[in-house]
Amino acid sequence: MAEAWVWLAQAIWLMLPAYAANMSAVKLGGGTPMDFGKVLRDGRRVFGPGKTWRGFLLGGLAGVLVGAALHALAPLAGNGLTDFGPGAAWVPIAAGLAFGALLGDATKSFVKRRVGKERGAAWYGPDQLDFVLGAWALALLLGEAAIWAGLAQENWLRATLTLPLAVIILVLTPALHLATNWLGHRYGHKEVPW
Ligand code: CTP
Ligand code: MG
Repeated sequence: MAEAWVWLAQAIWLMLPAYAANMSAVKLGGGTPMDFGKVLRDGRRVFGPGKTWRGFLLGGLAGVLVGAALHALAPLAGNGLTDFGPGAAWVPIAAGLAFGALLGDATKSFVKRRVGKERGAAWYGPDQLDFVLGAWALALLLGEAAIWAGLAQENWLRATLTLPLAVIILVLTPALHLATNWLGHRYGHKEVPW
């Protein structure tokens, strides 16, 4: 039983920079939209008004700061809670998880507009997992860049994200996401409860 809690803690821990980025974007977003209001030939916005530069940049930065804190705490936390790579490699890894989350979110919005769903409409599945897949994709890419740059010997994501952890994250994240969004709506930080 103790073992199960350790797995759960690790799964959440390594995704916290991505979760933090996603949540901070909601709180810190606003202003100029990432698509600058551009409408495509299907008559719909590129991303829509829900994706702003401030949300992307400040949300991503907040995720990197959370990554820095976890990286510093990892040796103290024990229980196999992971750091984010050797030396300065935590910077591209944390940035990959945080900004990747928001790029995944924006990519989802792009597709969501193309299939005709309005900004803020519920799209169960993509809405909850977009940022997980985006975080993994950019962390994988920047993990390779860290190797090329001589910052790391191995790809952090490939070494850290084992199959059982990936499965736990894919199952747990939608539940956590829906719960935090419901609370965010309840306490007035978010327009809709999903
Ligand atoms: N947000 C932002 N910039 C981002 C991401 C999010 O400003 N890059 C803010 C917006 O205020 C957005 C809110 O966070 O409305 C919630 O994010 P999300 O649920 O991802 O966007 P939606 O408004 O639901 O838009 P979409 O339908 O495109 O997902
Ligand atoms: Mg939404």
